[in-house]
Amino acid sequence: MLFWLYLLPLLARGTPAPCFADWAQAHGKTYETEEVAKVRAEVFRANVARVRELNELDPGVTYSIAGPFADLEPQEFAARLMSKRTAPDVAAESLLIAPRLSDSFDWTDKGAVGPVRDQKALGSCWAVSTAEAVEGQVAVTTGKLVPLSPEQLVECDASTDSSCGGGKGCADCGMFGGWPYLAYQYLEKAGGMFSEADWPYWATGMYPCMPQGYSKPLCGNHDDLFCKANSTKGQGPLHLCHASHGFAVRVTGWRALSRNETELAMQMVQYGPLSVLIEADSLQFYHSGIWRGGVFGCQPDPGSGILGLDHAVLLVGYGQDRDILGKTKPYWRLKNSWGTSWGEKGFFRLERGTGRCGVNLAATTARVAETPLVV
Ligand SMILES: *[C@@H]1O[C@H](CO)[C@@H](O)[C@H](O)[C@H]1NC(C)=O
Ligand SMILES: *[C@@H]1O[C@H](CO)[C@@H](O)[C@H](O)[C@H]1NC(C)=O
Repeated sequence: MLFWLYLLPLLARGTPAPCFADWAQAHGKTYETEEVAKVRAEVFRANVARVRELNELDPGVTYSIAGPFADLEPQEFAARLMSKRTAPDVAAESLLIAPRLSDSFDWTDKGAVGPVRDQKALGSCWAVSTAEAVEGQVAVTTGKLVPLSPEQLVECDASTDSSCGGGKGCADCGMFGGWPYLAYQYLEKAGGMFSEADWPYWATGMYPCMPQGYSKPLCGNHDDLFCKANSTKGQGPLHLCHASHGFAVRVTGWRALSRNETELAMQMVQYGPLSVLIEADSLQFYHSGIWRGGVFGCQPDPGSGILGLDHAVLLVGYGQDRDILGKTKPYWRLKNSWGTSWGEKGFFRLERGTGRCGVNLAATTARVAETPLVV
């Protein structure tokens, strides 16, 4: 009886009621206690309403409750992003050649983009974005696609840059965020980057240790976290954070790319997939379409000095759709690290040409040694 009372309001709306139990099963979710499951079911129901509202208010994009974050409050989701930041003030490289741009281009068709990763509950997007930019460079340079280890960056990279962030300083903070341009610098100094096969991402379900020597003023004091150093590959008996061999690739430098989106497209075609930072606050329920930053739109204003960039992803291509009136809608195609059940099989599209969500503000990629791969 109770069961039917509970279902009635949903049935009355006329739309099929998404079922929490089905969703939880599809995503392999288990909760410690029945109480926790009840709380999550409540959040799920509130999110069903949020998704309905988003679909009404933001036409052109489809939002869905079916993705991996349907049991998280928007604030909980935001905690998986990095802290908001401005782009570092680094000089962008100018175009070497200006290729004629075709209407569309995609590195995923060209063997330079590996499978979609799932960063899980950690703020490690910057490490994934860096690894994938390096993978792209290796693929473009050698013709081989070798999955590389974001885990190495999460466990070992404690780089800082005191000139960044308007003099406040920037740092790589393991699972609490970081910067791809600093990660390339770390990889250059470390001697190279390990393959994912040799150093898998195992952060799932437990906190890895913070990198040794990380900046407490910039990263926060995380000594109290659950950390068993000896069980990590980086800091444990294997000491891979101090390795001098075993790398899959040698990183020799990095490049910052243009903020002009026409030039950025040319550079992406010229160099390979690029790491970019964006403001991602309202990507939680994105399912498909050309995203414009959600209902309120995100359009960070470089002039104001506060950009709110809080997520790192991989720029893999561009193209354009037409709306029903025949007007072209240019977009970027980006690879996320939230698994394949999110978005367009793990990818998303973002409006191109308007600086949307800051996509053009911190594009970078690595330089890698041409041959051979270090072994
Ligand atoms: C960690 O490993 C080192 C060397 O292998 C050992 O000396 C130390 O006791 C270990 N620490 C813990 C907490 O197990
Ligand atoms: C962007 O770059 C293109 C190609 O170099 C150039 O033609 C255009 O004027 C630039 N736009 C702006 C706003 O600087």
